[in-house]
Amino acid sequence: MAKSEEIKYSVSPAGEKFALPVKEDFKKEMVRLEALTKKAKTENQEIVVVMGVGFVGAVMAAIVADTKDEKEKNSKFVIGYQRPSTRSYWKIPMLNKGISPIKAEDPEVNQLIERCVRKSKTLTATFNSDVLSLADCVIVDVQCDYIKNALGDMRDGEADMAALEASLKTIGEKIPEDCLVLIETTVAPGTTEFVAWPILKKEFVRRGIKKVPLLAHSFERVMPGREYVSSIRDFWRVCSGCNTEARVRVGKFLHEVLNTKDYPLTVMDRPIESETTKIVENSYRATILAFLNEWSLFAERNGVDLIKVINAIKMRPTHSNMIFPGPGVGGYCLPKDGGLGYWAYRHILGFEDGDSVFQITPTAIDINDTRSLHVAELTRDALRNMSRYIAGSQVLVCGASYRQDVGDTRYSGSEIVVRKLTEMGADLRVHDPYVDHWYELESQDTYPAPGLSWKRFFRNQEHLTELRIEKDLEKSLKSVDALILAVPHEQYLGLNPDDIVKWSGGPIAVIDCFGILPDDKIRRYFELGCEVKALGRGHIQRIKKEVQKG
Ligand SMILES: NC(=O)c1ccc[n+]([C@@H]2O[C@H](COP(=O)([O-])OP(=O)(O)OC[C@H]3O[C@@H](n4cnc5c(N)ncnc54)[C@H](O)[C@@H]3O)[C@@H](O)[C@H]2O)c1
Repeated sequence: MAKSEEIKYSVSPAGEKFALPVKEDFKKEMVRLEALTKKAKTENQEIVVVMGVGFVGAVMAAIVADTKDEKEKNSKFVIGYQRPSTRSYWKIPMLNKGISPIKAEDPEVNQLIERCVRKSKTLTATFNSDVLSLADCVIVDVQCDYIKNALGDMRDGEADMAALEASLKTIGEKIPEDCLVLIETTVAPGTTEFVAWPILKKEFVRRGIKKVPLLAHSFERVMPGREYVSSIRDFWRVCSGCNTEARVRVGKFLHEVLNTKDYPLTVMDRPIESETTKIVENSYRATILAFLNEWSLFAERNGVDLIKVINAIKMRPTHSNMIFPGPGVGGYCLPKDGGLGYWAYRHILGFEDGDSVFQITPTAIDINDTRSLHVAELTRDALRNMSRYIAGSQVLVCGASYRQDVGDTRYSGSEIVVRKLTEMGADLRVHDPYVDHWYELESQDTYPAPGLSWKRFFRNQEHLTELRIEKDLEKSLKSVDALILAVPHEQYLGLNPDDIVKWSGGPIAVIDCFGILPDDKIRRYFELGCEVKALGRGHIQRIKKEVQKG
């Protein structure tokens, strides 16, 4: 038994403490896993290990564990593997209780995990990497980040593949020779063939295995929100393998676990094509969002409402996917994926002319990363028009997440808004019906990793660790000077200007970042003595003049 002072804990977001396993727990755990997999084998179930049970891995693990054969019998036994670190270990005991380690707006996430853990008993989780020796298939869902060293200069960044490379080494050391390894992580193009495969091959040679490792790639298109599960299971997939055997195996596996009948699978010749599909898909999205930034500024300065312009354009079916960028883009993928491609061109594929080849993708990401700084300018200007200073003003930001009606705060534009206004001396409050803890602020000294918070690009950020998400909108509006409508959550769409002014105790500055306010509400705010500004909505000045004349 370990001495009490040696015991370390991992704390879940809800505050539940779990003691990290000690040496003797690893042996016991392996006995448990061997018994479970032996039983699964007798039931003809394939053993699948999912490495990394985060946003993607936890749900993918449950989808695989829910797979049935033609006779409606469960055909896979899934073991989620997670390193027993203080930061992540808690996900294992949570999963083993049948509770989702991720908070999702989609009720199917919890139902699916509970059903697979408790009822069909086809899903478990472990901290012991020796589980890899029992696997028929390993799915890699660990993160691969792109670290930016300056705000608004993506070219200066670098891919952080440490977690991925460590995972692959462990896999190569432990898997049986016929095991299929499927990388789902979004990677820099070339990673599967030129980084991952050599790592696996090296370990196989070291172990005296003659067979070539079976390695495949198929990226995730998961969308946080109410369709979380569907966005993995009932959605089009792309895949490829490093050789014919791997390509055939991955195709078969994905046909079994996903709804490829309604959402056909695309099989590419080589993994670099599957990897590039993901990077181009997200760079395309990032680019069409960034492109509207310049027209958003044009609109603000020339009496044009860009929201109405976009809606008019979208009437053409060929242009129907145009979207207003709001206060930046955010989310885990769009801000980084183009960076992985730009970086790979030089550091994996060996080309030196990346800066002349890549003109648009880096610029798009830089524009998206810095667009929200303009929200701080608008807030400053609105307050100035009311003869107030930003320094010392009380500002309420409505919406901390990166997208409407989800609780995902990763790289949200709102974070930059809060940080910039804090730097300028404002006192910030934040309301969000979907977010309980804003980890990017509360844990800014360690999250996403020590020294990597956006905090480092701004001054006076220390006390933001104390900022807590407000849940009572009426209360959080009391005595504010400015209200920033940052995200079009459903709750904010129906807000009534008369209530807002009553709850805040008088006229305030209102900043609309997402085309949330219809013209009649903008007019009403002006009638109530408020000042209104908005991203991309220059017609507001016209409404203001009309109210002043009236
Ligand atoms: N979240 C999304 O919306 C989304 C959408 C599409 C694609 N993706 C891609 O999916 C991948 C995973 O993203 P995510 O959102 O699930 O990330 P995440 O950070 O939520 O999860 C990664 C998990 O891997 C674990 N991990 C790290 N190193 C490990 C190791 N050596 N062994 C075992 N576990 C390890 C981490 O502790 C964590 O639990 C990324 O490449 C991402 O770009 C994510």
